[in-house]
Amino acid sequence: MTTATRTGSVGTGHIRVEGRDKVTGAARYAGEIPFAGLAHGWLVLSTVARGRVRDIVTEPVLRMPGVLAVLDHRNAPRLHTDYAGLLGTSPDPTCAVFQHDRVPHRGWPVALVVARTPEEAREAADALVVHYEPQPHDIDFGADRPDSRPAEGRTPAVTSKGDLEAELAASAVVLDAEYTTPEEHHNPMEPHAATARWDGGRLDVVDSNQGATWVVGELADLFSLDPSMVRVRSEHVGGGFGSKGVRAHQVAAVMAASVLRRPVRVVLTRRQMFTLAGHRSPTVQRIRLGADADGRLRALEHRSLSRTSTVHEFVEPSAGVARVMYDADAHRTENRVVGLDVPSPTWMRGPGEAPGSFALESALDELAEKAGVDPVQLRLRNDTDRGPVSGLPFAGRNLRACFEEGARRFGWAPRDPRPGRRRDGRWLLGTGTAAASFGAGVMPSTAAITAQQDGRFTVRISAADIGTGARTALTLVAADALDVAPDRVRVRLGDSAFGPAMIAGGSMGTRSWSWAVTAAAGELRERLVPGMDIPPDGITVRSDTTEAVAALAHKERHSFGAQFAEVAVDITTGEVRVRRMLGVFAAGRIVNPLTARGQLIGGMIWGISMALHEEAVRDPASGGLVGADLAGYHISAHADVPRIEVDWVDDPDPDDPAGGIKGIGEIGIVGVAAALANAVRHATGVRHRSLPIRPDRVLRAGRDA
Ligand code: MOS
Repeated sequence: MTTATRTGSVGTGHIRVEGRDKVTGAARYAGEIPFAGLAHGWLVLSTVARGRVRDIVTEPVLRMPGVLAVLDHRNAPRLHTDYAGLLGTSPDPTCAVFQHDRVPHRGWPVALVVARTPEEAREAADALVVHYEPQPHDIDFGADRPDSRPAEGRTPAVTSKGDLEAELAASAVVLDAEYTTPEEHHNPMEPHAATARWDGGRLDVVDSNQGATWVVGELADLFSLDPSMVRVRSEHVGGGFGSKGVRAHQVAAVMAASVLRRPVRVVLTRRQMFTLAGHRSPTVQRIRLGADADGRLRALEHRSLSRTSTVHEFVEPSAGVARVMYDADAHRTENRVVGLDVPSPTWMRGPGEAPGSFALESALDELAEKAGVDPVQLRLRNDTDRGPVSGLPFAGRNLRACFEEGARRFGWAPRDPRPGRRRDGRWLLGTGTAAASFGAGVMPSTAAITAQQDGRFTVRISAADIGTGARTALTLVAADALDVAPDRVRVRLGDSAFGPAMIAGGSMGTRSWSWAVTAAAGELRERLVPGMDIPPDGITVRSDTTEAVAALAHKERHSFGAQFAEVAVDITTGEVRVRRMLGVFAAGRIVNPLTARGQLIGGMIWGISMALHEEAVRDPASGGLVGADLAGYHISAHADVPRIEVDWVDDPDPDDPAGGIKGIGEIGIVGVAAALANAVRHATGVRHRSLPIRPDRVLRAGRDA
């Protein structure tokens, strides 16, 4: 293993290298980059939840001012949809727009109106009359769906070892509880926006996405193009959270640019994002635990049911968290899914772990109370050094250190475990804790570094900075690997022309990209001899980590953490206020403490939002969302967020050549909802097993108690 840390940039807080450009408006986003002859497309979405398109009355709309075209299933270019997407499975056909007349959910794209200005396009889209042949729809999600099926995919639907019923029967303490989480949405500040144009026989797309390589691959497949004929640029991205992959608007823009032979931009509206940007499925989870009197687990079962559309199987793999967190003599997990007449869900920050940890870490708290064991002790007693399902050793599992440091800093030790005992005026006070975990994987990437005549270095990598600070992190990694100060390094990213690279996703971006950057820097340093002449176009070295990543030792690779929270509950109004939170993480080497803290705090705020506020409500009659905008969909705002502290313990991954990086993208949210629900239980004596913990739920529980 090589580590180049002489300049010590990694580990030292650094403000965002593009921060000034962003706050001064110099940084331009996909929807605001000018093009000569730019036309604007506006998507028209179905108003029925299931059925067929009978007719689309385009004639009057085509006569409206500025209107250039209307694309629908009758005249749109044909797409090739039978290919393997990012994960080797077939992609969501929702993005293969206008290929047939079927409507599988409300908000399905049925047409694109293209006009000279966005206003003209919008007016014409609003005026477009679409006749449907509606059919009855079914959006009724719940635990008792007889048509649910085991989840397909890369990971098995079911894992099982030992005799669950026997171990439950032999347990001194048992728990059997059901937990539910609602449909949730991830709306980045910057909407999805793409501009497509043909340039000298090549397709050029300016986009806002989490991976230019990814978007190139899917567009090339859909339009039967050689990937070398497609270039995707995505320089600045105002948030992603899993929603910014390939979606209907990019494909519609490419279609329109092909038909009209001019640049076409399609931007999703906020309301359209609630349908077309994906979401997190609701879940129903059942947990059965059995333990000895001291809290050591003999039996653990975690079952989860999530919902997908009828056109694509996306599974929210909530039971997966139990495959990593806790072992038991009998251990069973199962992810099931049911297809209903709703839009396809997708990855949303902490997919699986976020809702899964709510159920499992709430259940652990319930077990702790039943067993009379402190919740921190219960988790430490069930810590494991091997993957409960894989049997593999962990490449670092410093969960104990997180809990011990967290408990010390939070002041956990003197806690009276009895619920409903502490009062501050009208507020009942309580504290809660939960564990966090998230995968710490790595994927192949390529990078190039150029040594310039002026003594500076330019790094080119098709990474995506979706607001996390990736560009800054890679600047620090490159600076150390090149043994120069960060101000001599310029990182360019978000351009597929730089070669294939991992997406900003799965909490794997920084680790994957840093590996490629470190490899290129190492080779470049070997090429550079002091005093040598650098040619005018510099000396460029390229790296490709495909082989090195494939040779990585087989281990369970995860980040871990301990969440602590204090809440105040007013049982006369049902209001829950978070008073303070602390998260302590073991998440590998931290590259940039400044942005890392922001990322982790951001995740924890998302956890507050999940615990107390977020819930998308579907109208059974229309199949659509009620309040599909940021006024109707409640999220935590400033006044909801208390002082949040974040820290980390030393936890370098021994197999990472860039100095031990794991990844912190998503772990911040994991466990937070459970820690808060556990704190509400401690405050009030009432256990909330359904999110969000709304005022009416607190009130009803108070009345029923
Ligand atoms: Mo993340 S949900 O892998 O963008």
